[in-house]
Amino acid sequence: MSKLKVVTIGGGSSYTPELVEGFIKRYQEFPISELWLVDIEEGKHKLEIVGAMAKRMVQAAGIDCEVHLTLDRKAALKDADFVTTQLRVGLLDARILDERIPLSHGLIGQETNGAGGIFKALRTIPVILEIVEEMKELCPAAWLINFTNPAGMVTEAVLRYGKWDKVVGLCNIPVNAVVEEAEILQEKPEDLFFQFAGINHLHWHTVVDKFGHDRTDELIQKMYGEGNSQSIVANIKDNELILEQVENLHMVPCPYHNYYYYTDKMLAEELVDFKNHGTRAEKVKEIEAELFELYKDSNLDYKPQQLAERGGARYSDAACETISSIYNDKRTVMTVSTKNNGTISDLPADSAVEVTCMLTGNGPVPYTFGSFKPQERGLLQLMKAMEELTIEAAVTGDYGTLLQAFTMNPLITSGDVAKTVMEELLIVHKKYLPNFFEKVPV
Ligand code: G6P
Repeated sequence: MSKLKVVTIGGGSSYTPELVEGFIKRYQEFPISELWLVDIEEGKHKLEIVGAMAKRMVQAAGIDCEVHLTLDRKAALKDADFVTTQLRVGLLDARILDERIPLSHGLIGQETNGAGGIFKALRTIPVILEIVEEMKELCPAAWLINFTNPAGMVTEAVLRYGKWDKVVGLCNIPVNAVVEEAEILQEKPEDLFFQFAGINHLHWHTVVDKFGHDRTDELIQKMYGEGNSQSIVANIKDNELILEQVENLHMVPCPYHNYYYYTDKMLAEELVDFKNHGTRAEKVKEIEAELFELYKDSNLDYKPQQLAERGGARYSDAACETISSIYNDKRTVMTVSTKNNGTISDLPADSAVEVTCMLTGNGPVPYTFGSFKPQERGLLQLMKAMEELTIEAAVTGDYGTLLQAFTMNPLITSGDVAKTVMEELLIVHKKYLPNFFEKVPV
């Protein structure tokens, strides 16, 4: 049988068991023969623990797959068929600062769409672009499946600055929505067609059943009608959008809309949590410590239930499905970040959009969406412009471009504070921001 090699960068992540479970589940259709888990020196301890657990899982499943653990990224990338990225530059400690510093100035931190997300992009994009350069040399036929956040901006950086089209960006929000909203409609997910359109963590969707009936308005009533409130991710509290507002959209917004529609309320809640228990990142650090204690148990050879406490649950399974669908030209319908190319006419053709696609042997083929109504278009274009500036700043290290992104972001509500927060974040993350190094005010 020919070799089938998958490389996972950030292999020491606590999410790795879900990835391994996803490969085991699909072994008949995707007979993976080598899984290389790659990490850096600082992540070595975690890599060893979760790597040993991955080996036990593979052994218990009785599949013929070698699991390699390495700190040598280039050796791993050689002749890879698929590369997945789930790395976190600066580890969770960097995320803690991304969330703490804005909150201590009365701003939402948020690791994907707030000030924290901007800095996560600044730290991550240069590393991802380095990986893309290595892939060009060592595995030019491979696909890059990215689920490092901010997934949309990372995907766009790879497309636009890495000049690498074989990339798919993943998020678990649409995956979770399909499963949970099918249940709300008392239907099976495979009997429904969900059409998502927008960008990562800012998208809307409609749903049609197998008889061609549009069920979106019914879903909206069931989700947002009196007494109902839904949350489809562990890291965002109940979704309590105003019914009339959503009715008017005739589309279901994603949970991250709460940040835009109710910035004050979200901030107030985060400040209370911050004061009483610290930031989400600190909570995640506790969950992680607990998970790694479990992973150390040499009898544990399956994914523990506690992993569901992380907001990213079902991410890795989506990655495995994406890989298998590309490998087998399986044509799974899934929502991923990919090049716009006219799918959403309100956004630039070369930007990354998160849309429902058919995953073919040639990669994602989006279902055409068209244009949004002003209700959605305004916010969407604003956030996309903010993303473009952030990506440009990550690549150029330009202070003015970054300041524009900061002042434009609707979650960063004050100009003066924006500059202060931005400069504090630049200083604390200095060692991960080589492109800015000389421009940091000291
Ligand atoms: C959601 C988002 C992910 C994000 C996660 C954070 O599920 O879709 O992009 O990574 O939440 O979860 P965490 O447990 O790290 O706060």
